[in-house]
Amino acid sequence: MNYIGSKLSLLEFIEDSINKVADKNCKIFCDLFAGTGVVGSYFKKRGYKIIANDIQYYSYVLNRHYIGNHKLLEFNSLLKEIPVLKKLKIRNRKDYVCKYLSNLNGAKGFIYKNYCLGGTKNTKIKRQYFSDFNGMKCDAIRQKIEKWKQKKLISNNEYYFLITSLIESIDKYANTASVYGAFLKKLKKTAQNNLILKPAEIIINDYAHKVLNDDINIAIKKIHGDILYLDPPYNQRQYATNYHLLETIAKYDNPKIYGKTGLREYQSQKSLYCSKPEVKKAFKDLILNANVKYIFLSYNNEGLMTLNDIKEIMSLRGQYGNFKKEYSRFRADKNRKYIASKTTEYLHYVICK
Ligand SMILES: C[S@@+](CC[C@H](N)C(=O)[O-])C[C@H]1O[C@@H](n2cnc3c(N)ncnc32)[C@H](O)[C@@H]1O
Repeated sequence: MNYIGSKLSLLEFIEDSINKVADKNCKIFCDLFAGTGVVGSYFKKRGYKIIANDIQYYSYVLNRHYIGNHKLLEFNSLLKEIPVLKKLKIRNRKDYVCKYLSNLNGAKGFIYKNYCLGGTKNTKIKRQYFSDFNGMKCDAIRQKIEKWKQKKLISNNEYYFLITSLIESIDKYANTASVYGAFLKKLKKTAQNNLILKPAEIIINDYAHKVLNDDINIAIKKIHGDILYLDPPYNQRQYATNYHLLETIAKYDNPKIYGKTGLREYQSQKSLYCSKPEVKKAFKDLILNANVKYIFLSYNNEGLMTLNDIKEIMSLRGQYGNFKKEYSRFRADKNRKYIASKTTEYLHYVICK
């Protein structure tokens, strides 16, 4: 998923840096601002036991699948509803279930009625986050997944796999420039394609992992581990508003929505790490409460906390150091051309006493 602050392109830098500092006996890797789960997934593939956490529910779902699911999904209880599954090898069943869901007829549910032109055309505020076809398809798939869960035709593991597949798939057809803070007036090319539910990858390994859905300053008091990796927001942009539609698809809870973009209420998910006056206090509390051997922090040179703030706070726990890497990012200028600008990505660390 194209996610603000995703570390997909920095994974090797993060791993190489961690390997230079951490001892070889580290087994538990904690990724507590987990977002899409790419960092936890990468270290899960390296054989670590992962503890993941994020304040957003859609992120919990992604991590509950990519991190929490570590065995093949058998879909045994769904054999009554889809008998042909019996004839398939277990490892192929998840693909078939996604194909089955892709072929459902669309339904005029919450997403269609509130976020598609067809559903909003007779209301004061018209929205076009998805084509009518994709909005209805998304509703049909999401409703079916919920029904299967209520009827106990799928396990929790299967449930989170299916919602993850839906979140990852629908995001590819969104009619937005990148995030859900606004939609485009005209349906862009990729939004015109018809939604196909692509099965999410399952990362098989031996450990049972742990996935939480808490504010990090609460989560930190519930866990202990070897390596704590922190990747907080760098600036004021709240994830709750930028990804509100993914939150609603994940929860599918018919929320009250308001405004041009159809935002859901998000007070309980407002992050202190996006607030200049609050971030240092929250970060200090987090660092002081971490029950781990090493703490690593991704942050860039343009974030709300300065390098000195970070050094001062992390040094409270032991020997501080950092690694850095030049990073090119693309920004739209006034004329809507994309220009490259450079920023420095830091990986700060402290070896805890
Ligand atoms: C920079 S993103 C993490 C990106 C992630 N490393 C990736 O590669 O996908 C920051 C994440 O922190 C989460 N977050 C923000 N404030 C939080 C808090 N107080 N507690 C837990 N998670 C929080 C956001 O929801 C967001 O997913």
